[in-house]
Amino acid sequence: MTALIAGNWKMNGLTETAAQIVGPLRRAADDLACEVLVCPPATLIASVAQMLAGSRVMVGGQDCHAKPSGAHTGDLSAPMLRDAGATWVIVGHSERRADHAETDAMVRAKAEAAAAAGLRAIVCVGETEAERLAGRETEVVGRQLAGSLPDDFAGRPAAGVVAYEPVWAIGTGRNATEADVGAVHAFIRAELLRRFGDAGAKIRILYGGSVRPANAAALLAVPEVGGALVGGASLKAEDFLAIAKAAPTR
Ligand code: PGA
Repeated sequence: MTALIAGNWKMNGLTETAAQIVGPLRRAADDLACEVLVCPPATLIASVAQMLAGSRVMVGGQDCHAKPSGAHTGDLSAPMLRDAGATWVIVGHSERRADHAETDAMVRAKAEAAAAAGLRAIVCVGETEAERLAGRETEVVGRQLAGSLPDDFAGRPAAGVVAYEPVWAIGTGRNATEADVGAVHAFIRAELLRRFGDAGAKIRILYGGSVRPANAAALLAVPEVGGALVGGASLKAEDFLAIAKAAPTR
């Protein structure tokens, strides 16, 4: 499976900085063995999609509403993201789950809305530090997967991916060990196979949480790690490209 390296810019980026990140990506993309995706803030999706038109670098949103349109001030729908040039969308990021009280059911509805609009979804799961310390990480991740993934998530021509992001490793510089990552990714794979049968083998499972050029090769080499969801390090083209270059060809 080709690895997917996805950059989540979060609430960062203005027109000028976007061009500084995207220009080098565009120039390097043809030589990369992995798939590359950037998820800028919604204000930049259309312009970034234009900057990347005709290149291998894909563009995604960071969230979408579950409804295609309506009276939801400030929200953006999946068809709107698609219209702006996105082909992917992140749903259920832990910052959305925490800041906007998003539940598994809401995340699932967003993933369904994404698919209906022709977007591929990155569905995020991951335990908090307290849950990890209590040894509850697989219980939590299992519950999130069961509640957040649509029933037809596997087996679509353009299926989505799952991202495992332990909350305590996001933006903290603290890494899950390769053993921790391997254990949870193996658990997620088993859950996907149990729920979706053979089609569950084809869903890529990304790792996210303080992925940097210095640790990318080791994390991406862990069995069942099919790519990375990168926050902070995706804001510098050089760092993001170094991570993309570290992706093994499997
Ligand atoms: P980080 O963020 O790489 O800055 O830890 C990852 C994410 O939240 O997707």
